[in-house]
Amino acid sequence: MELHYPGKSGILDILNGPKASFPTHFNTEKNALLEGDNLPIMRTLLDSPLRFDLCYIDPPFATGHSFRSSTHRSATISKSNADAVAYNDFVKGAEFIEFIRQRAIVIRELLSDNGSFYLHIDYKIGHYVKVILDEIFGTENFRNDITRIKCNPKNFRRNAYGNIKDMILFYTKSRNFLWNEPTSPLNDAEIFRLFKKIDAHGRRYTTVPVHAPGETQHGPTAQAWKGLYPPKGRHWRTSPDELDQLDNNGFIEWSSTGNPRRIIYADEHQGKKIQDIWDFKDPAHPGYPTEKNLALLRLIINASSNAGSHVLDCFAGSGTTLLASALSGRRWVGIDQSATAIKAIENKLHTCPALTEKPDFQYLKAQ
Ligand SMILES: C[S@@+](CC[C@H](N)C(=O)[O-])C[C@H]1O[C@@H](n2cnc3c(N)ncnc32)[C@H](O)[C@@H]1O
Repeated sequence: MELHYPGKSGILDILNGPKASFPTHFNTEKNALLEGDNLPIMRTLLDSPLRFDLCYIDPPFATGHSFRSSTHRSATISKSNADAVAYNDFVKGAEFIEFIRQRAIVIRELLSDNGSFYLHIDYKIGHYVKVILDEIFGTENFRNDITRIKCNPKNFRRNAYGNIKDMILFYTKSRNFLWNEPTSPLNDAEIFRLFKKIDAHGRRYTTVPVHAPGETQHGPTAQAWKGLYPPKGRHWRTSPDELDQLDNNGFIEWSSTGNPRRIIYADEHQGKKIQDIWDFKDPAHPGYPTEKNLALLRLIINASSNAGSHVLDCFAGSGTTLLASALSGRRWVGIDQSATAIKAIENKLHTCPALTEKPDFQYLKAQ
């Protein structure tokens, strides 16, 4: 399936188009803040040894608005009042889709073989972007459409349901992608519901069977343990030797009728799997328009990159991704064409109290 529209260019033309140059040497060993249009800059990066384990982008959403910096109550202004503009979001329709497509094609080339791509977008244009990303990354590499709750419910005046979410499309370059399973801790109600028993030391626990479905005729998990065989149609979860070890270490509870069960302690629980609906509201009074939630970026970065990985945000805005990368010990490259964004990024990196070391990066303006 493909999306057809006028002005859809060939992949080779996109990759081989004009490149950016920099006034001084671009040291790829350092973190980098690059000012200019991301497409020619990323083509230049293709010639470098840099490859990224993660790229997150939060591009314009084809809203038709102009966005201005902090001092005013509303983030949007009319086209005529352009003094405080941080960036314009005037490209719409097929032209917008092609704008995103060209960048996504180059981004895919810049990813490492086990790299990931997250694209933040809204419900109005996001479904067209999904079709385009399926073309570029392949449907087999589409991982999630994450629903992000972006604000508290509002009394929208139009006759429709209130919109409180946007979407984050998550793709990987291949099946073998870098993944650090993120979890969230159980809350008190869940702990009380799932771990009803309390041991002699006051630790909450529950028990689970030591056998699992599926009969095996041979091998250790089919053998007798302490004179017991697994029930019909089941096998021991671990070998009798390992069951002995668990029992010796106090992890088996025996019922009065001699039925063994494995003890699981609440304080050793690894946490819940994170699902695909996220509640990360953006700052109520952003310093930069459409500034994203830092905790959201920290989750993505910790799940889809490792310490020392390179992370790219080529629509960097106020640098939320760059700060989150620095906080998690990742290397980063940020690109933005707005001088206001570059100032906001420098400010964010230099004033964050949680950053224990002074951020070390090179700034280059593309020519
Ligand atoms: C939605 S904002 C990003 C906000 C960011 N995620 C944050 O948390 O602050 C989009 C940014 O993309 C930048 N941008 C738009 N088109 C660009 C282009 N062709 N090249 C580089 N930057 C671009 C804008 O200047 C703007 O700062």
